[in-house]
Amino acid sequence: MQTPVQRNALDIHVLLTEARKFTPSKQFQAQANVNDPAIYEKAAGDYEAFWASWARQLEWIEPWKQVLEWKAPHAKWFDGGKLNASVNCVDRHVLGQGGANLRNKAAIIWEGEPGDTRTLTYWDLYRAVNRFANVLKKLGVSRGDRIAIYLPMIPEAVIACLASARIGAVHSVVFGGFSSEALRDRINDAEAKLLITADFGWRRGKQILLKNAADEALCACPSIQNVVVVQRGGVSTPPCHIQASRDHWWHRLMEDASSSCPPEAMNAEDMLYILYTSGTTGKPKGIVHTTGGYLTGVYATMKWVFDLKPEDVFWCTADIGWVTGHSYVVYGPLANGASVFIYEGAPDWPEKDRFWKLIEKYGITIFYTAPTAIRAFMKWGDAWPRKADLSTLRLLGSVGEPINPEAWIWYQEKIGGGRCPIVDTWWQTETGAIMITPLPGVTVTKPGSATKAFPGIFAEVLNELGERIESGGGYAAITRPWPSMLRTLFKDPERYEKQYWSKWKNGIYFPGDGAKRDEEGYFWFLGRVDDVMNVAGHRIGTMEVESALVAHPDVAEAAVVSRKHEIKGEAIVAFVTLREHARSKSSRMLVEAIKDHVVKKIGALARPEEILFSADLPKTRSGKIMRRLLRDIAEGKALGDTTTLADPTVVEDLKRRYEEDE
Ligand code: WTA
Repeated sequence: MQTPVQRNALDIHVLLTEARKFTPSKQFQAQANVNDPAIYEKAAGDYEAFWASWARQLEWIEPWKQVLEWKAPHAKWFDGGKLNASVNCVDRHVLGQGGANLRNKAAIIWEGEPGDTRTLTYWDLYRAVNRFANVLKKLGVSRGDRIAIYLPMIPEAVIACLASARIGAVHSVVFGGFSSEALRDRINDAEAKLLITADFGWRRGKQILLKNAADEALCACPSIQNVVVVQRGGVSTPPCHIQASRDHWWHRLMEDASSSCPPEAMNAEDMLYILYTSGTTGKPKGIVHTTGGYLTGVYATMKWVFDLKPEDVFWCTADIGWVTGHSYVVYGPLANGASVFIYEGAPDWPEKDRFWKLIEKYGITIFYTAPTAIRAFMKWGDAWPRKADLSTLRLLGSVGEPINPEAWIWYQEKIGGGRCPIVDTWWQTETGAIMITPLPGVTVTKPGSATKAFPGIFAEVLNELGERIESGGGYAAITRPWPSMLRTLFKDPERYEKQYWSKWKNGIYFPGDGAKRDEEGYFWFLGRVDDVMNVAGHRIGTMEVESALVAHPDVAEAAVVSRKHEIKGEAIVAFVTLREHARSKSSRMLVEAIKDHVVKKIGALARPEEILFSADLPKTRSGKIMRRLLRDIAEGKALGDTTTLADPTVVEDLKRRYEEDE
């Protein structure tokens, strides 16, 4: 226990760090891609012109007719224009049409967890994308069809996305950590025609058998006609099951494929991909991104937020299964002709300095990761990064959840050597690209604050009524459309309107985040205000976990909340009422069985930290579970108002058990 004096000292420390400011160094400013603060006003003065000037830096097959058509909540950006995303990410760098010929530049520098390595130049990538595009065509995939991708972090994941874009198909990448049931649901919602997977991927020295999981999913996926399997292992590794006529080895198909596949001319508003993300119901939402606006957004933010230069080696540690992987492993960096580093495995394998060794070995210059990872590094101790030469780093980024000032400072000192600016970037699957962020050559940063909206983005903090809060707390809001915004939810346009555009109306976007603005107009994000949790930077809906729990034969009822967690940011706490027949079972075994069941239903990322059995759950007289109370119990806080409870004794009982459990 901390004494009150200690706690006070801690608060003061936090206050002091919160008050610190970091001005970009003169050297950094001088070389930065953008270093004139006037850019904000200029962009705001005519934001359509601002975004059009970025879009013009892409390669178009036909010019657009109109920059923006906004019939809230439906936007069309660069309508009438035609382009192809794969052409922008590869062709124009090797065919030299855009000026620079990057044919022999490394596009992807890759290292597997066991230490195997591969480098693909832009020319290699160009040929692989063309070939795989022909493979897809041969397997009957055409424009508008959906394909699912369930792969480890290997170059084929990037090739598959770009090949899909090349022929005008729509990819839906499913994170390799999701279970077969989660994969099945996503394939079925998207009605994907083809699945790309691998025999396995490496994680902490273990083979994660993706094809086996896929086989399980495919028992109930009627839309899938073909499966392409990447062979991650060599001849000596155990073979996975290959079902004749449905399953094909990637390398075999590639051998026979031609390396020339003319790109489809896509409309700017044609779908590029669907990416499922958690919302406030049990069913994940299929976020729809289109081509022209999305590419414009990721292209621009890549160049300015990360101050990208031709000689940089950029490493974004996100998996391709998340939006960060889509925007800042694939489309943003490659559209800019950058060298992207990709690592397959865990940061603590075989030792806790793997990331630092990789930075040293590959001379990484820009490093982009999540606060949850930074907090784990802090806990592992400074000795690990100290052993490596991190002097090539010149810029650091953070994404996925609020970064606490202590972690920010540690990152800045121990990884950035005190010389690298930090960009704390706020955005979402829905926004497609970074929205609120420092510009590293312009912005004075404050640890813990994502600072200000990117030029051409209009963000506010609003109260419940939609009134602007000059300084103080409220809800984050985006008040004008932006090019990389989601266009709809796949097959669910009503939910799109309701979820994002109905809180305040008038075409104001509601992201679902709490935020406060300080006197200087800086944004401080405070976490989700809805029933979405952020566990280790991963979005998980409380309802999703509840649905998984009640599908267990011993569970009658469940309520899920999160509580603060030192490393993961938030941890899942489940309150469970057992069915009559299960009440006599050993609770320790049941806890494990129920946790495993959630993992089976969703994936390891959703494993509850704690399960607490209770004879009843606190409900209002109308039968609604009082989550707020459960949250207070999980946080060990004093309980708020319980007068609306149907049975007040339930809470006391729960609280007592929770404390005993601790
Ligand atoms: C949270 C990840 C604070 C936020 C790109 C948002 C952040 C959700 C930050 C989106 C940040 C992301 N500071 N919170 N810099 N970045 N978030 O869709 O709650 O996986 O709504 O996209 O993560 O998560 P998503």
